[in-house]
Amino acid sequence: MKVIVTERISDKGVELLKNAAGLEVDICFDIPRAELLEVIPKYDAIVVRSVTKINEEFYEHATNLKVVGRAGNGVDNIQMEGATKRGIIVVNTPESNIVSAAEHTIGLLLASSRNVVKAHKMIESRVWERSGLKGSEMLHKTLGIIGLGRIGALVTKRMQAFEMKVIAYDPYIADARFKKLGVEKCETLDDLLKKADVISIHTPKTEETVNILGAAEFAKCKKGVRVVNCARGGLYNEQDLAEAIKKGIVASAGIDVLVDEPKPISPLIDLEECVLTPHLGADTTEAQDNVGIAIAEEVVSALRGEMVPNAVNLPSLHPHDLEDMLDYLHLGEALGKLYYQLKKDPIEKIEILYQGEVAEMETQMITRAVLKGVFEPILKERVNYVNAELAAEGRGVDIVESKMTGETKRNLITVNIYVKDNVFTVSGKVFGENNIRITEIDGFEFDLTPERFMLVARNQDKPGMIGQIGTLLGASRVNIATMQVSRNQKDGCAMMFMTVDNEVNKETLNLLQGIDGIKKANLIKL
Ligand code: NAD
Ligand code: MLT
Repeated sequence: MKVIVTERISDKGVELLKNAAGLEVDICFDIPRAELLEVIPKYDAIVVRSVTKINEEFYEHATNLKVVGRAGNGVDNIQMEGATKRGIIVVNTPESNIVSAAEHTIGLLLASSRNVVKAHKMIESRVWERSGLKGSEMLHKTLGIIGLGRIGALVTKRMQAFEMKVIAYDPYIADARFKKLGVEKCETLDDLLKKADVISIHTPKTEETVNILGAAEFAKCKKGVRVVNCARGGLYNEQDLAEAIKKGIVASAGIDVLVDEPKPISPLIDLEECVLTPHLGADTTEAQDNVGIAIAEEVVSALRGEMVPNAVNLPSLHPHDLEDMLDYLHLGEALGKLYYQLKKDPIEKIEILYQGEVAEMETQMITRAVLKGVFEPILKERVNYVNAELAAEGRGVDIVESKMTGETKRNLITVNIYVKDNVFTVSGKVFGENNIRITEIDGFEFDLTPERFMLVARNQDKPGMIGQIGTLLGASRVNIATMQVSRNQKDGCAMMFMTVDNEVNKETLNLLQGIDGIKKANLIKL
C-alpha cells in the first residue's frame, strides 16, 4: 500500500506511517496540483490538512484511492459525496486540536481587546505611549457563542472562569447541553446579536453559516461589540466587518482565518482594530503531535480494513462503543454474506430486525455491516462500510431496520431478504466476546460458529447422506472441522452445514451435487 502526505504533519505522525508494516510513504509537502493529479493513481491513501483540495477532479485521477486522512478537524476542503460514492473512507482527527483552537480563540480575543499588537508596534518604533490604547475587561460581560460544539464548549468553560456570562446560538443541539454548560440559550441569532458584548463563532463552514454575520447582522449588534473568528474564513463577511469596524459598531476583531487564505488578502488586514494570525489555531506542538499521531493511526487502520472511530462518512461512534460492537459487526457481515453465496434472485428489500440488548445499540453501523456482507460476493472490494447503503440504494433495494427491546430474545439479529415471491431468512446471536453464532439459515435451525470456509448442502432427509458426503470429502482431501444437520420436518428436506479447513474446489462441489439425494451444495467464504 502507498500513502502520499501532501501537507506538513508532525514527525511523530510521519514516523508512525513509515513504521507501519507493508506501507510505503512518500512525503511530498506542497506538491504542485498538476503533479499531484499525475501521481495520485499510484496511491492507496492521502494525508492532507486544509489546503489540498479533494474534489471531483481529484477523485477522477485517484483511481486506486481508499482513504483520505484529514490531519485536523474541518473537512471543508474534502468533497464528501465523491468519496462516499466511490467507497473512499474519509478520516479526520476532530478531538486532537480543539484545546489549542479554544486557547487561540481566547488569545485573539484578549489581544484584540487590549490593543496588544498596536501597542507592540509602537514600542517597536521606540514610542512609549498609552493614550489611544485603552481596552476593556471581560469580567461580567456577555459572551455570545455561535456554535456550541466541541470548541465552543471549551471556550465557554474557560471564559466562565473570567466570570463572563455565556449565551449561545446553536439550533442543532439539545437544551440539555446548554444547561449542562451553564449557558443561556438564544432561540435566534438576532437574540444573541442584541445581547452579546463579545461574539465568537465556532460553527463549520456550511451554506447556512457562510456570511452568517454580514452588514444586516452587524447593524443589530451592541455598539462596541468585539468579535473573534477562529473557525473558518468567510463565516463573517470580511468586507461588512471592515465597514462595521470603521463605523465604530465593532470595537475589535481577532481573526485566525480568512476567506481567501492562504492568500493574505482581506480588507481587515489594514485595520489596527484587528489582530490577525495565519490559521494558527491548531499550531501548537501538542496539537500537531496529537493530530499527526492520530491521523497516522487512523489511516493505517482504515487501510487494513479495520473500523476507525473518526470516519467522517460513516455513522459516528465513540471508540468504546465501537469496541463493544465489533462482534455484532462480524456477525452482521457473516449473515449478509450468506445470501449471494446460496441464492441468486435479485433482492427487492432487506429487513434487519434487532432484538434484545443489540437493539439498544447504535445499529446503523451493524446494518452497514450486513449490507456490506450481502453485496460483497457480487461487488467485491467496490463495496465497504462507507458506500454499502449507497450500493443497496443504487440497486433499488429498500432497507428496513426495526428493533425489539426486552427480555424475550437476547442479542438476536435477523436478516430477511425479500426477493420476488420469496423471503430468505438468516439469524445470529452474540453470546459474549468473540462468541458469535449463526442460529438460522432459510428456515433451518443451527448453532454454528462461522468460519472462513463453510460448506452448505441441501439434501433429502434419508439415511446414508452424512456417510456419503464424509467419504467423498475425505477422498477429495477436504478436512471437515465441524458438521451440523438440521431438518424442518421428518423425511422432508434437510440442510447440512460443515466448516472445512480449506477452500473446496469446483470439481469437488460438482461431485457432491452428483450424490443421489443432494439437491444443492455451496461453498461459503467469509
Ligand atoms: P463541532 O462540530 O464540534 O461544533 C460545531 C457546532 O456548530 C455544532 O454544535 C453545530 O450544531 C453548530 N452549528 C452548525 N451550524 C450552525 C448554525 N447555522 N448556527 C449555529 N450553530 C451551528 O466543531 P468544532 O470541533 O467545535 O469546530 C468548530 C470550528 O472550528 C470548525 O469550523 C472547525 O473547522 C474549526 N477549527 C479551526 C481550527 C483552527 O486552526 N483555526 C482548529 C480546529 C477547528
Ligand atoms: C482544523 O480544521 O483542524 C484546523 O483548521 C487546523 C488545520 O486545518 O490544520
